[in-house]
Amino acid sequence: MTATSTQKTVSIKSESLSDLGKAAKELLAFCDGAKVLTFSGNLGAGKTTFIKAICKELGVEDLVSSPTFSIINEYRDSKNVPVYHFDFYRLKTTQEAEDTGCVDYFFSNNYCLIEWPQIIESLLPDEYVKVEITNTNEIRTINATLIYRA
Ligand SMILES: Nc1ncnc2c1ncn2[C@@H]1O[C@H](COP(=O)(O)OP(=O)(O)OP(=O)(O)O)[C@@H](O)[C@H]1O
Ligand SMILES: [Mg+2]
Repeated sequence: MTATSTQKTVSIKSESLSDLGKAAKELLAFCDGAKVLTFSGNLGAGKTTFIKAICKELGVEDLVSSPTFSIINEYRDSKNVPVYHFDFYRLKTTQEAEDTGCVDYFFSNNYCLIEWPQIIESLLPDEYVKVEITNTNEIRTINATLIYRA
């Protein structure tokens, strides 16, 4: 068992698709260089949509869509640096996830944007940003925590 100490948190509200760009900017500023981000929230909470907005901020021009079947999508940012997008919804065990080779990406120092992270939490680097999205009607609350596991 490792101790988890929370260093900082931020709470961002989104009332429509049009303010997601601003929310993405705010989240990236909060991350302050941390590049592994997990996204939790109910089915349809808005994880993929928010990741699209983050990718746009990073200068990704590729089509960003949920890697539900491929598990991993790779995009390129404005400097041609890879950005990885994962969706572990269809996988059941940590071992299955590990077999995809995802750990190499997590430690690659490139952005990793991870939907349905529950089964890979133990595989993450010590420092990552945990993003939790909740929606009530049209209002989304995006809570982010910088996790540092010592
Ligand atoms: N900030 C937002 N404002 C308004 N509508 C939104 C917002 N975020 C997402 N939506 C809408 O909610 C729906 C579901 O979004 P999305 O697919 O991003 O959810 P998800 O959490 O990735 O779902 P899944 O659990 O299937 O992965 C989409 O129709 C999307 O347009
Ligand atoms: Mg999704």
